[in-house]
Amino acid sequence: MSAPRRLPTVILISGRGSNLHAILRAVAGQALPIAIRAVISNRPDAPGLTLARDAGIPAEILDHTAFPDRQGFDDALQALIDSHAPELVVLAGFMRILSPSFVSHYHGRMLNIHPSLLPAFTGLDTHRRALEAGVREHGASVHFVTHALDGGPVVLEARVPVLPGDTAATLGARVLEAEHRIYPQAIRWFAEGRLRLAGNAGNEYALLDGKSITPELVAHSEGH
Ligand code: GRF
Repeated sequence: MSAPRRLPTVILISGRGSNLHAILRAVAGQALPIAIRAVISNRPDAPGLTLARDAGIPAEILDHTAFPDRQGFDDALQALIDSHAPELVVLAGFMRILSPSFVSHYHGRMLNIHPSLLPAFTGLDTHRRALEAGVREHGASVHFVTHALDGGPVVLEARVPVLPGDTAATLGARVLEAEHRIYPQAIRWFAEGRLRLAGNAGNEYALLDGKSITPELVAHSEGH
C-alpha cells in the first residue's frame, strides 16, 4: 500500500511555538497528513526553533531587523518560503503585519490562528481586553489570511468560558489549550482537500466539503 500524500507545508513562528508543538505531535501521531518542509522564525531566539530541530525539521531564521523596511523583509521571506515549494503556509504565532503582496501571493493557502472569537478582539492583548469587556465566552479562531488584519474567513473556532476570578493568564491558558486542538484539525481539513477559500478578494468565504462555512457551522464544527 502506498503511503498517503503529505501536503508540503511551511510553518512561520516568532516565539514559544506551542501551536507548532501541537502540530508536530499530530503529525507524529499520523493524525495530520502534512510534510513540514521548514519552520521559519523572524526572531533568532524563538524557542519554537528548538522544537523544530528536535523533530528533525529544517529550522531557519530570517531576522526582520536586518531589513530596512517591511517590503524588503516580506520579499525575502517569500523567496525563502517558496524555496521549499509549500502548498500551505501556517502562521503559528508569527507576530508580523504582512504586506499586501505577501498576502496576495499566498491567497487561499495561508492559515492563521488568533486568540479570540473573531471578529471580536482583533489585534493584540486579546485576553485582557476580553476580561475588560466582561464577555462570558472567549476562545480562538483559525482563519484564512486575507488583506483584512485578523479578518479573513473563519474556518473553525473553539469557545471557552470566562470563569470568575480569571486573569489574562488563566484565561489565556484555557484558550491556548483549545488552540492546540483546533489548529491541527483545521490544517488537516486543508491537507485532505476538504477546506478551501472561495470568492473574490475582499469578499472571500471558506468552504468545507463544498459547503460554505457559516458562523453557525464554525461554532459547531469542532470534531468533524
Ligand atoms: C497564540 O496565542 C496564537 O493564537 C497567536 O500567537 C500565540 C502563539 O503562541 N497567534 P505559540 O507560539 O504557538 O505558543
